[in-house]
Amino acid sequence: MCGIVGYVGKRKVVPVLIEGLRRLEYRGYDSAGVAYLQDGELHRHRCEGKLINLEEIMEEVSADSRIGLGHTRWATHGAPSQRNAHPHCDCTGKLVVVHNGIIENYHSLREELQEKGHTFISETDTEVMAHLIEEHLENDLVEAVRMAITLVDGSFALGVMWSEQPDQLVAVRNQSPLVLGVLEDSGTFLASDIPALLPFTNSVVFLDDQEMAVLKKGSWQVMQAESGELVEKTPQVIDWNVGMAEKAGYRHFMLKEIFEQPQAVLNTFRGRFDPETGEVLLPEINLSKKELAQIKRISLVACGTSWHAAMVAKYWLEKWARIPVDVDIASEFRYRSLILNPNVLVVPISQSGETADTLAGMRLAKSMQAKIITICNVVGSTMTREADGTIYTHAGPEIGVASTKAFTAQMVALFLLTLFMAQAKKTISGEESRSLLSVLLELPVLIEKNLLRIQDEMMPISEEFSRSRDFLYLGRGINYPIALEGALKLKEISYIHAEGYASGELKHGPIALIDRDMPVLALAPRDSVYPKVLSNVEEVKARHGRMIVIGTEGDDELQRISDYVITLPEIHEDLNPILYTIPLQILAYQIANIRGCDVDQPRNLAKSVTVE
Ligand code: G6P
Repeated sequence: MCGIVGYVGKRKVVPVLIEGLRRLEYRGYDSAGVAYLQDGELHRHRCEGKLINLEEIMEEVSADSRIGLGHTRWATHGAPSQRNAHPHCDCTGKLVVVHNGIIENYHSLREELQEKGHTFISETDTEVMAHLIEEHLENDLVEAVRMAITLVDGSFALGVMWSEQPDQLVAVRNQSPLVLGVLEDSGTFLASDIPALLPFTNSVVFLDDQEMAVLKKGSWQVMQAESGELVEKTPQVIDWNVGMAEKAGYRHFMLKEIFEQPQAVLNTFRGRFDPETGEVLLPEINLSKKELAQIKRISLVACGTSWHAAMVAKYWLEKWARIPVDVDIASEFRYRSLILNPNVLVVPISQSGETADTLAGMRLAKSMQAKIITICNVVGSTMTREADGTIYTHAGPEIGVASTKAFTAQMVALFLLTLFMAQAKKTISGEESRSLLSVLLELPVLIEKNLLRIQDEMMPISEEFSRSRDFLYLGRGINYPIALEGALKLKEISYIHAEGYASGELKHGPIALIDRDMPVLALAPRDSVYPKVLSNVEEVKARHGRMIVIGTEGDDELQRISDYVITLPEIHEDLNPILYTIPLQILAYQIANIRGCDVDQPRNLAKSVTVE
């Protein structure tokens, strides 16, 4: 979802902006633009489509400027077009604005401004901001921005530049992330996400809601947007490096990230338990034993893939910690009549820590005095700053829009949370903890060992089904959410219609779809519901559906009932979801590739969804 980059400093600004925008491409966008100041004049270049189009334009332009703003736009108000691309100008052509988020009252503001004589060029909500700031501009941009935002409802991250004050950028944040990158005396950067800053600096300052920043070549200041009062901020050093956000020889980020899963899993559990005693150590939870003992219910809240991780965790938490667990899609959670109190632990799960619905749900829960522990992959993101505690997944930056390594890492973090809660509540024995953790310990090696083989064995299946119109994924018990995740991966990146079902539900509807053209993928590990899944597979076979089964090594029965079988080593059934996710990611990846789809940046999708 939209990306902002800004820079003021010693370097030439255009290459900095283009490089930064390239690092934000994963967020999803459909047009791009830059603006810079040179010899007191404002220059602006925008185009529809991918960044490469903008780069081609910029190659023709020789710009020596050292201050500017860049933007990638994910269309909300108005089609993706050059006219609607950011940056947007005021009437004088001296002021530009880049914006992420949605100005909810833009329509009435636009009418008021038009009545006052402002001329609008685009259909965007953002252009309102440029004219609104112009309306309040006398001789101080900071003051004008402050006045303008008091009139605006909605979410925004803004970058503003004015040719009459050519040494500064002004930024402001409300419910849409913004971060500064700081380099002592040589320059200050602005971005909507850390990867844009990594080629230049690891030293960052996160803005909080309702904070403004003034960026200059060798200095920066943060202040409260409302009062103008200065806010003390200390830069944080991020331990991600630029290589972590590059493809490292892989054809796509998604493939690289699939292959990084052994490391992501390992990094997420490393140092978090004592293998001798089986005790899970999560001091970052920041809850005392007394507070833990008072927890009567857990509420897991998330969107997309993270929601599937939550669904898996419900099985674990209820089984081992014996606590009732609700699982909610965040956009539903925030609009239902919640029953929350200090005895409910709310766990927002989010790779980015910025997803608008999850964040809103979390804030609502906080206002109802629930305890909040977030599971998140991005250090310093909004959710981590507002929660009572954070269990970080240490998956490293995830760039592919379709989440892979963050998902497996989320499951690991949730599994640790499960054992932690179970140990606090004494619902698990030391022996059980040690035995489960010994399986977790083996997982990175198991995944590593099987990745290449799965890739090879999956290829003929991907080739055979790459032209299918629909796909069904079946799973039962703890693997039901994995069936949902497999279907989501396939539809996200290959645009094949796919649905995940609890296999017991097959006969209540989807079985009507089965014919010789319908591929059905079933997850059938030898676990406690194995015989039931097998009967469901037989039901598909009897109707001539094309059956792909993912099951346990050495299970000869599977060959008889399916067209294709991929096997995985037998492990404790509770940890199967982590292992069984891998072949489904690979299947989706291969099919999308065969179909020539843009795997890392699928159409219409955004990595970080910062609007409702
Ligand atoms: C978007 C992404 C998904 C992701 C979801 C939740 O839809 O495309 O891959 O699962 O947001 O994101 P979060 O950062 O909160 O996990």
